[in-house]
Amino acid sequence: MLVMVSDYTDSVCRTRRCFEACGSADNLAAIAILFSHMRSQLKRFISQMEPNSIAIIPAAHEQTRSYDTEFKFRQDSDFWYLTGFPEPDAIAVIDNSSKKPFTLYVRPRDPLMETWFGRRYGIEGTLKHFGCDQAFSIEKFAGDIAKHLNGHDHIYYRFSVDRALDGQILDYFTEQRVRRLKSAYPPHTIFDPTPIIGEMRLHKDAKEVELMQTAATISAQAHVLAMKKTKPGMNESQVESLIEAYMRDKGASGVAYNSIIGGGDNATILHYVENNMPLKDGDLLLVDAGAEYQNYAADITRTFPVNGKYSAAQREVYDVVLDVQEKCIEYTVTGNTVKGRQDHSIELLTEGMKKLGLLKGKTSDLIKKKAYLKYYMHGVGHYLGLDVHDAGRYFKDQQARNSKPFAPGMVLTVEPGLYIPPDDRSAPAKYRGIGIRIEDDVLVTKEGNRNLTSAVPKNADEIEALMAKARPKR
Ligand code: GLY
Ligand code: MN
Ligand code: MN
Repeated sequence: MLVMVSDYTDSVCRTRRCFEACGSADNLAAIAILFSHMRSQLKRFISQMEPNSIAIIPAAHEQTRSYDTEFKFRQDSDFWYLTGFPEPDAIAVIDNSSKKPFTLYVRPRDPLMETWFGRRYGIEGTLKHFGCDQAFSIEKFAGDIAKHLNGHDHIYYRFSVDRALDGQILDYFTEQRVRRLKSAYPPHTIFDPTPIIGEMRLHKDAKEVELMQTAATISAQAHVLAMKKTKPGMNESQVESLIEAYMRDKGASGVAYNSIIGGGDNATILHYVENNMPLKDGDLLLVDAGAEYQNYAADITRTFPVNGKYSAAQREVYDVVLDVQEKCIEYTVTGNTVKGRQDHSIELLTEGMKKLGLLKGKTSDLIKKKAYLKYYMHGVGHYLGLDVHDAGRYFKDQQARNSKPFAPGMVLTVEPGLYIPPDDRSAPAKYRGIGIRIEDDVLVTKEGNRNLTSAVPKNADEIEALMAKARPKR
């Protein structure tokens, strides 16, 4: 078995090899027409497959929440990206040597099931709406595996995502090998398609950027609403419900991840999601919440005072984090690297920790000892897209572990933070229990970058002014 690392720059020559495998060079135009009905993402994926290959990409399944109820269905991101098909229990078969390269196996129409659990496209609807060459009932898939796989050199399939499907694929290989079928020709290489799809998903096209801007704008407005409405005595759950109701009202399918609504020292717990404590006068509130819009995520964090005014100590920590956040946004431009940005944030925050009296010593020694980890223990940001922690490698090559340079079309979060544990006796008493994170979503452009979430204020004076304006005068 071999796992391929895709090389984006190689895609043109792969396209040619793929086309040549499908026929003579004279056939290029005809084959281009063959693929023309497909989503551009799928066409680009096919162009990067090795010649005479087949890919099997499964949709997600519904997941049990408890007993006989399910979580709200969310499509698998890779499957969605390639096919745009929204239903569970489907499988895409992509065959670059066939005149019918794109097959979808889907749930058949079923009036009883549809009455209970919702509409289905069925075979006819799938053929009509999703640009596939053939559609069949999912019940037929197991019996068709050998027909699809035989005669191909390579299969693109990711193991360990769908264990039931893994079993079917392995049964196929077992059967071929045990029976030594002379006439059969099973694939001899198994590639993981993830590196190709991940690299594609990393570089957003104009349509994706538009959807991400919508997710970002809805989320930013939800944060502004939270700032306007929050006051002492409310519960974290009420802020959560305000934000999430707003997102749904504006067309988001919901949240892109569980909202973090942490008042007081709950803000020092990075993934605090209980969101059920009262908000106290004098405390800060950390809100990390983002909408999902047409499957694209936003991811915003703001930290603001419950009573509308930062205390002097809160403001000191806040301004350190804000300064680092703004400098790391400036750093998120073409040519700089993911690792360079992480190092930049560590250096700036270590300086900030010294300024606040949280750390003492030479900056270079503190960095070498990783002293900053006590108060800053996460990355400065991550890729954002269909998943909140989006697909795509962070290294250019696995051997040298060279960090990836930023390039136009990438969307990344910028989210430094400082978290001072409430029981940290080495920290100045006035800072204990303060947790601050500030997070924006940034699109790298040719000219520099664009902050997709700039509509929600982050300067402390601006936040205070916004909160004061929203409160009735006493
Ligand atoms: N809300 C998840 C994150 O910021 O990475
Ligand atoms: Mn994030
Ligand atoms: Mn976040």
